[in-house]
Amino acid sequence: MLPTPDLSHLKRQDYQFIYEPAEDTFLFLDAFEDEVSYLKELNPAISLEVGSGSGCVTAFVGKILGESNCLKLCTDINPKAARATQGTAKQNQLSVDIIETHLTNGILPRLGGKIDLMYFNPPYVLTPSEEVGSHSVEAAWAGGIDGREVIDEFMPYIKQLLSPKGVFYMVVVNENKPDDIREIMKRDGFESSIVRTRLAGREKLFILKFVRTA
Ligand SMILES: C[S@@+](CC[C@H](N)C(=O)[O-])C[C@H]1O[C@@H](n2cnc3c(N)ncnc32)[C@H](O)[C@@H]1O
Repeated sequence: MLPTPDLSHLKRQDYQFIYEPAEDTFLFLDAFEDEVSYLKELNPAISLEVGSGSGCVTAFVGKILGESNCLKLCTDINPKAARATQGTAKQNQLSVDIIETHLTNGILPRLGGKIDLMYFNPPYVLTPSEEVGSHSVEAAWAGGIDGREVIDEFMPYIKQLLSPKGVFYMVVVNENKPDDIREIMKRDGFESSIVRTRLAGREKLFILKFVRTA
């Protein structure tokens, strides 16, 4: 079992401003642990976490990739999360470049078709639409109608960002209609699978994996 990244530099009060790793984060780590051989074989040249929050997942994936020369990129819309990710990378002796931006703005078009590994634990909670689009901690969960507003905005970019061998992982809950998401991605040329699923309180969490069909 791979150890959870060291987050001891983040204090209780930091989690008033950034997302504190929770069941969804830990299910994501479990899924990546299942995927260790696949990821090592993939040997990504560039990885990208969208919405890195504390940086916990990127640090975990960074440890899996080990000494490879992978360029590890992250984005987050919340400036405090961007700073936290930077701190987590340092705390875990990893080199990570973090961009404070909306989704992947600033990454496209330059890195279009070049990302081998991409992952996103998005804001998936069902909320009124007006709550979507904050730059502070609410951005961590506010997903709007069906918890799909940020997910739906992001989906069209996946095919533009991923390299031919690229893979994308995403956390969703039942209310986000995972089958519908998989169908949309199928139309975009991706086959999908469920790497992990877990009941966490009232939430049924899924970790979806997408790879190109051809
Ligand atoms: C559920 S939290 C996940 C945080 C971390 N990756 C984890 O798994 O613990 C979602 C993260 O996405 C970020 N986020 C939300 N909307 C975003 C957007 N439009 N662009 C970039 N990041 C966004 C939030 O600030 C938050 O850090």
